[in-house]
Amino acid sequence: MLFAYARNAFEYIIKNIKFENDDYILLPDYNCDAVYQPIKKNKINHFFYRIDDYFSPDFQSIFDRAGKNLKAILVVNYFGQPLKINSLKQYCNDNNILLIEDNSHSYGGSHMNQKMGTIGDYGFSSPRKIINTPTGAILYSNNNNLNCKFPIKRAKVEYKKFLLNFATLNNYNLREKVKAYFRQENKFDNPLFPGEPDVDYFLPDLFSEALINMSNWDKISEKRIKNWYKWSIFIKQKKFQIIFDHPLEKSCPWLMPFYIDSPKKRLKLLEISSKNGLGLSTWPTLTNEALQTNNKLLDRWNKLVVINLNHTPSKYNEILFKDI
Ligand SMILES: Cc1ncc(COP(=O)(O)O)c(C=O)c1O
Repeated sequence: MLFAYARNAFEYIIKNIKFENDDYILLPDYNCDAVYQPIKKNKINHFFYRIDDYFSPDFQSIFDRAGKNLKAILVVNYFGQPLKINSLKQYCNDNNILLIEDNSHSYGGSHMNQKMGTIGDYGFSSPRKIINTPTGAILYSNNNNLNCKFPIKRAKVEYKKFLLNFATLNNYNLREKVKAYFRQENKFDNPLFPGEPDVDYFLPDLFSEALINMSNWDKISEKRIKNWYKWSIFIKQKKFQIIFDHPLEKSCPWLMPFYIDSPKKRLKLLEISSKNGLGLSTWPTLTNEALQTNNKLLDRWNKLVVINLNHTPSKYNEILFKDI
């Protein structure tokens, strides 16, 4: 089933599950603010479990929150590298809990011969992030019980975005340069910026839908994995901290993460990248609610940088980053 955004697919899932009275969901404490929108909007009871600095779920914090009304757990395949998802699935099966897989970082990837996003009872992915279309998300369910009522308003094609995407279909770096030129501002010291807009339409625009259907996802995955290895060389040369030694062979990661301990270097790197459209950014936009439950989240956010793997590093990058 197609949606405009991953948050729409997630909203559909939580409506379909039908949370009652004291039922609650466990959410990872480190995730994009857009995922919390449907939770707040539908007033779903929720608690957070911890994600460590290597983006692995902390099981103890899940056990601490277990109870008879725990209806579902959301797990994220961070950066297309699903950690402990099979153990979590086993735990959910044994305890009659629904597992919802947030695969927004890896549409098109596979893990142990299974498509990512189809491992949980429900899954949602965000192909729009990988091929950079204005909209496009996908919902998966392992039962045929998708019967909740939902607005079926289609997103309109935004002509400026359409023209830009079309004109630069095979040249992502050029597209990002154009976008960088028109970008108004960035706040690399504010984890609540820019905040994802609440959307009131739910189906993708037709242009995005066509591009998602036409794309060769195996080829896209191969290119992104190659770029991951190329960027790893850059990160090692600069002595920044690698988080994943290598990507899963068949994943299709949206972003590659790494840490920089020096705030000054991080800021410089992000500013240069933003000015030149090189694909480095902060991630994610956090929420106040999550920040209040765990003060370590801010420390992590302040040292994390992610690279959009559409970008292939070039000699030009080396020149731009030579003083860092
Ligand atoms: C892990 C994760 N899940 C969900 C989302 C939200 O996706 P969308 O903007 O398609 O709603 C994001 C956004 O960055 C994300 O990083």
